[in-house]
Amino acid sequence: MSKIDCLVCHDTTGTYEKSPTKAGMPVPSLDLTKIAKKVGHTSRQSCGTCHFSGGGGDAVKHGDMSKDLFYPKRNCDVHMGGYDFQCSDCHETQNHKISGRSSSVPVTEATQECEVCHTRTPHYGDDLLDHHLNRHCEHIDCNTCHSPVYAKCSPTKVWWDWSKAGDKTREPVLDKYGMPDYNWKKGEFRWKESAKPVYAWYRGAMERVILGDQIDLDAPVINITEPVGAFNDPKSRITPFKIMKGVQAADAENKYLLVPHLFPKNKSDDTAYWKHLDWNKAFEAGMAEAGLPYSGKYTWVETRMHWRIEHEVMPAEMALSCVHCHKSMRGEKTCNRCHQDQKDIDAMALIHRGTDFKKMKAAGRDVEDLIGSTDYIDFKALGYEGDPIIHGGRFKKLPLGKTASDDGFWGFGKLFKE
Ligand code: HEC
Ligand code: HEC
Ligand code: HEC
Ligand code: HEC
Ligand code: HEC
Ligand code: HEC
Ligand code: HEC
Repeated sequence: MSKIDCLVCHDTTGTYEKSPTKAGMPVPSLDLTKIAKKVGHTSRQSCGTCHFSGGGGDAVKHGDMSKDLFYPKRNCDVHMGGYDFQCSDCHETQNHKISGRSSSVPVTEATQECEVCHTRTPHYGDDLLDHHLNRHCEHIDCNTCHSPVYAKCSPTKVWWDWSKAGDKTREPVLDKYGMPDYNWKKGEFRWKESAKPVYAWYRGAMERVILGDQIDLDAPVINITEPVGAFNDPKSRITPFKIMKGVQAADAENKYLLVPHLFPKNKSDDTAYWKHLDWNKAFEAGMAEAGLPYSGKYTWVETRMHWRIEHEVMPAEMALSCVHCHKSMRGEKTCNRCHQDQKDIDAMALIHRGTDFKKMKAAGRDVEDLIGSTDYIDFKALGYEGDPIIHGGRFKKLPLGKTASDDGFWGFGKLFKE
């Protein structure tokens, strides 16, 4: 910890700032004495200084972290907005080891998950839905239901094409959110607010392409990070991800990704891309710094990164409802497909309880296309034959060493079927 800047996390004045050109040193004009007298606990402000601008700008990299979390609305993030959580309330820290694992970097201090506070059966059990909701936690990650859209409050970058950079004459066009589609330094972009995640089986690990790893240049897309998990793995759960798509440079002969040298170090720097717009020079310098050879020939490849959705949990009443996933419950039969009818229970109200995309749209969110959606997570794409209520869950045969009741409906189903 000898080269660590303490103030970046412990400043409480909100004025501390690093200079972009001074390799991590503070902006020279700051009153460091004043700041040093006001050190204190970390906050959303101090952690957010770095994390909200991952990827070189607000809300670029993570789909679920942006400057909105400085002062979030309750609907945007129920913990940080509704209950004023600070980052460290969840990311518990011991001897400066911050818990919580990243989607992109393999180092990990300790994991952090919803269950640490809420347990694996978080639904209190005082409600008719709670039994099924708790059973679903075996197969479905919390945020699949509790964060059904990401970048809820401001748009995040979802497409970034570096190959288009370098055209100083191209005028950026603003999209419907007021975000630019172009920057001559960085290329072409697309943004999305209130985006629907992509769902995949995830068992707590990511596969990654690390700088220097061989890639298949003929593959239509290269997954730089990809979740590990499978339909028939009891430890995997259906988990929401933001996918960042883009076009990046690769070494055409050495077959690995390239890092360019972008930002001029000083006036005499004659390799920085942003000064000379010469990719070859920029890759030569960038790769020399990374300690890897550059063949002198580059090519553009399409890439994808998976970022897990971990924040922006919505209030409980805005979780996905039964019918968002189970089309089968929308028809004539609801709970009574398996249970006896009971006059005093309004099954229609129960199956529809949850997020109302119409209301979200009325509140200004970009969710028009999600209104009335069913099969929200796409059962077939995940390996099911179709809606599990009709076609069955993933373990028709009991996993060895488990009791029937661990297997959910298909362990007990015969008792209930009409
Ligand atoms: C990456 C952010 C980060 C940096 C950088 C950092 N700290 Fe901390 N520090 C924390 C967190 C998180 C805690 C836990 C309590 C809190 O939130 O304030 C903490 C707690 C502390 C505590 C309270 C004692 C404890 O261990 O709970 C002291 C004292 C402290 N830090 C000093 C320092 C010093 C001195 C430096 C520079 C060498 C430093 N910190 C750099 C994040 C950071
Ligand atoms: C309600 C609890 C909660 C709060 C509050 C919270 N986080 Fe997290 N965060 C999580 C969980 C859970 C994960 C997943 C960690 C894991 O799998 O080990 C996570 C993951 C992360 C990651 C890794 C992201 C990735 O996928 O690469 C970062 C960085 C992070 N949080 C930063 C922050 C910052 C900064 C704040 C404050 C603005 C914050 N978190 C507030 C629960 C929280
Ligand atoms: C000086 C910039 C900076 C500050 C301030 C900072 N972080 Fe980080 N943090 C990073 C970088 C860089 C990484 C590694 C890359 C990544 O995951 O984005 C990281 C990684 C993480 C991870 C993933 C850890 C892992 O092992 O994979 C979590 C969680 C996290 N930070 C939380 C916090 C919290 C909470 C605070 C405030 C107490 C904080 N950070 C303050 C720069 C910072
Ligand atoms: C550090 C502990 C902690 C962690 C980690 C945590 N929560 Fe919470 N959560 C709370 C507390 C405290 C409350 C407020 C009291 C309550 O409702 O239980 C809460 C409330 C909630 C609510 C109800 C909000 C409402 O009022 O409508 C939901 C839903 C929720 N959490 C989901 C999650 C999810 C999903 C995660 C993981 C991404 C998570 N929580 C991580 C502590 C935590
Ligand atoms: C299949 C969707 C689904 C999954 C998966 C899910 N929840 Fe929920 N959750 C809901 C719904 C719907 C509600 C609102 C229930 C109601 O209105 O009674 C809710 C309510 C809650 C509440 C408020 C307390 C309560 O009982 O009403 C908390 C806290 C919570 N969930 C946490 C979690 C955590 C933590 C996980 C992961 C371990 C999780 N949920 C997984 C759908 C889900
Ligand atoms: C995020 C999508 C999603 C939501 C929301 C959802 N389900 Fe499911 N449901 C599933 C999946 C996936 C399975 C299959 C689990 C497996 O593989 O065994 C399933 C299975 C079932 C089953 C059969 C097996 C079992 O474990 O009970 C029933 C019954 C069921 N769901 C009822 C409900 C009810 C009632 C609600 C509303 C409270 C609901 N579901 C909400 C995705 C969802
Ligand atoms: C596809 C069949 C199926 C559907 C549809 C279904 N359930 Fe169930 N439910 C079951 C089975 C099977 C059990 C027995 C325990 C288990 O394996 O989960 C059960 C158990 C329960 C329980 C706990 C045991 C009890 O009887 O007290 C409740 C409460 C419940 N269901 C409520 C509902 C509600 C409310 C709905 C509609 C929103 C619903 N179920 C829809 C199959 C279903």
